[in-house]
Amino acid sequence: MSVVRVAPPAAGLRGTLVVPGDKSIAHRVLLLGALADGTTTVSGVPGGGDVRSTLGAIRALGATVEERDGTVRIEGRGLALGAATRLDCGNSGTTMRLGAGLVAGAPATVTLDGDASLRRRPMERVAAPLRAMGAAVETTAGHAPLTVRGGRLGAVDWTLPVASAQVKSAILFAALRARGTTRVREPLPTRDHSERLLAHLGARIACTAEAVSLDGGHPLRGGHVALPGDVSSAAFLVVAALLVPGSDLCLTDIGVNPTRTGALAILRRMGAPIEVAGTHDVANEPRAELRARSARLHGTTVTPAEVPAAIDELPILCVAAAYAHGETVVEGAGELRVKESDRIAALEQLRLLGVDIRTTADGLVIRGSGGRRLAGARVESHGDHRIAMAFAVAGLVADGGVEIADAGSADVSFPGFFTRLAELGASVEQG
Ligand code: S3P
Repeated sequence: MSVVRVAPPAAGLRGTLVVPGDKSIAHRVLLLGALADGTTTVSGVPGGGDVRSTLGAIRALGATVEERDGTVRIEGRGLALGAATRLDCGNSGTTMRLGAGLVAGAPATVTLDGDASLRRRPMERVAAPLRAMGAAVETTAGHAPLTVRGGRLGAVDWTLPVASAQVKSAILFAALRARGTTRVREPLPTRDHSERLLAHLGARIACTAEAVSLDGGHPLRGGHVALPGDVSSAAFLVVAALLVPGSDLCLTDIGVNPTRTGALAILRRMGAPIEVAGTHDVANEPRAELRARSARLHGTTVTPAEVPAAIDELPILCVAAAYAHGETVVEGAGELRVKESDRIAALEQLRLLGVDIRTTADGLVIRGSGGRRLAGARVESHGDHRIAMAFAVAGLVADGGVEIADAGSADVSFPGFFTRLAELGASVEQG
């Protein structure tokens, strides 16, 4: 599937849906399950390319992995996990960065590589703390391929220069095999799935407003984790329902960890009627049902402090802003430039849909159409799943639709996304 054209549906989007399991938590359970003692089972594992990269990585490191109908069973190798190998991380930054932390305490040399997009992304941010802990890490001018010569590690007290859950997690994963207590401090709170999961699997971890602390040398015990639906995937359908008149969508069993739901709060501030019902915890992660109905949205300012909890949803928020009344300003989002693509540059393609958009070094200013249909256009996904899906949603309110080149990249996190849109009544032509 290289080119897909998405055009407005004849009626509102209505129904009850599930979305694939949470990719961010899935990576963590698979990696930590490999390092745990005993058996870990994970249900609701999403089928996308990124999670396949992590499954390949833990197999290469020596874990025994069985897969059946979205449930994965891992026989962990305990703190002895690790083998001299080469890990193909594909398009997945989480596999590479968390994987580097996982192997830093193994007495083996591991090379981590990925596709052209992953090779462009910054890796020094993860190499530096792992070196400070005692691993020998070589990057290719700050990028992948990355070679980690693991060994005996010592604890560090590390302050992250950039808010990054991936770097925080890499340090915590390495800390499991380090002597002493490691502390990580972050400039702004980022997703805390690693901390919650480590606690669930028996790690000696403590979280305060100042730091996350983890005592090294204590084994994890395998456990069971049922993954919630991925709120980052749900966000595309939520915005689709908000924009298409007459819509009313229910999304069941969605992860609503507060470090991930920043976009829902921002959309509500824009006037979105998003309801969250039945919140309850499973495996130390909250989940709930989301309901979104079409509404008149107005612009807002997304501040730098709000960025980490909405980082992956900023592309789809920009599509909501493009159709809203008034101006939306996104500030302090420079990290968007080093995601699977330079997402600020990729979003400039909204101009092709007639949107008044200006970009800055670390943000965007968008004057919405005020609920008037956007113009039809052809755009590039830049091989980036979230850009492909964001423009697909824009196509739902664009006269003549939006044609997306290299739309297959959506499979990285949401296989079946276009089929789902078609089932909801959107006109989806796959070329
Ligand atoms: C992720 C953290 C974020 C996010 C990425 C997944 C994670 O990246 O953008 O999609 O699972 O830890 P950074 O840590 O680079 O901000």
